[in-house]
Amino acid sequence: MIRYVRAQVTGKHQRQQCSSTKMSIIGIVAIDRNFAIGKGGTLPWHYPADMKFFKQTTIGNAVVMGSRTWQTLKRPLPDRMNIVLTTKQGIGVDSVVTLPDVKSVLTLAKTLTRDLFVIGGAQVYEAFLPHIDRWVVTEVPLSVEGADTFMPANFLEGFELYEVRQLDEELRAKFYERSRT
Ligand SMILES: NC(=O)c1ccc[n+]([C@@H]2O[C@H](COP(=O)([O-])OP(=O)(O)OC[C@H]3O[C@@H](n4cnc5c(N)ncnc54)[C@H](OP(=O)(O)O)[C@@H]3O)[C@@H](O)[C@H]2O)c1
Repeated sequence: MIRYVRAQVTGKHQRQQCSSTKMSIIGIVAIDRNFAIGKGGTLPWHYPADMKFFKQTTIGNAVVMGSRTWQTLKRPLPDRMNIVLTTKQGIGVDSVVTLPDVKSVLTLAKTLTRDLFVIGGAQVYEAFLPHIDRWVVTEVPLSVEGADTFMPANFLEGFELYEVRQLDEELRAKFYERSRT
């Protein structure tokens, strides 16, 4: 697992890669200019560069999603442990772990040697907010009309930006970590 540490270089904070066995809980989301993330139960855009980035970032790790987001997938995300949060009975796919609450996910996460990515939707982002160590946020240059699902307005409160990555001409991803006080 790749982790990052701060280093003091020429008066500025820079990040260096190092190995660590500690897993992180990382929220990953794509938002429009108004913090919209969904419309009519689906993603209101299609950006191959973001899909590729999502895959590259999450592959080999665990992902947790709400049952509504699960319904938007045709099958489990390959090469990742898929966890679906639902208060109902299991979803009937053997390779998918279904759990009834955040506490159970956190208990499972403690046994992992890889990171846990919180992949949405809004209810699940909200539920994991106090537990997120880092955010990976793709900024979509749209204002989606009729959007019905939004990130909590304060979701980045208490986080600081440490990296910006251009995904293509239009899209960039921003990386945030919890501020150290
Ligand atoms: N832009 C993005 O990056 C992004 C990412 C993901 C999803 N989305 C979009 O977001 C929308 C879906 O979001 P959503 O907020 O409506 O639904 P969601 O968070 O995907 O799923 C909600 C469901 O998950 C379960 N759940 C949520 N919190 C729980 C908790 N604390 N304990 C137990 N179960 C819990 C419940 O399932 P049960 O009712 O089965 O109990 C709940 O009805 C879609 O439009 C999707 O396309 C966007």
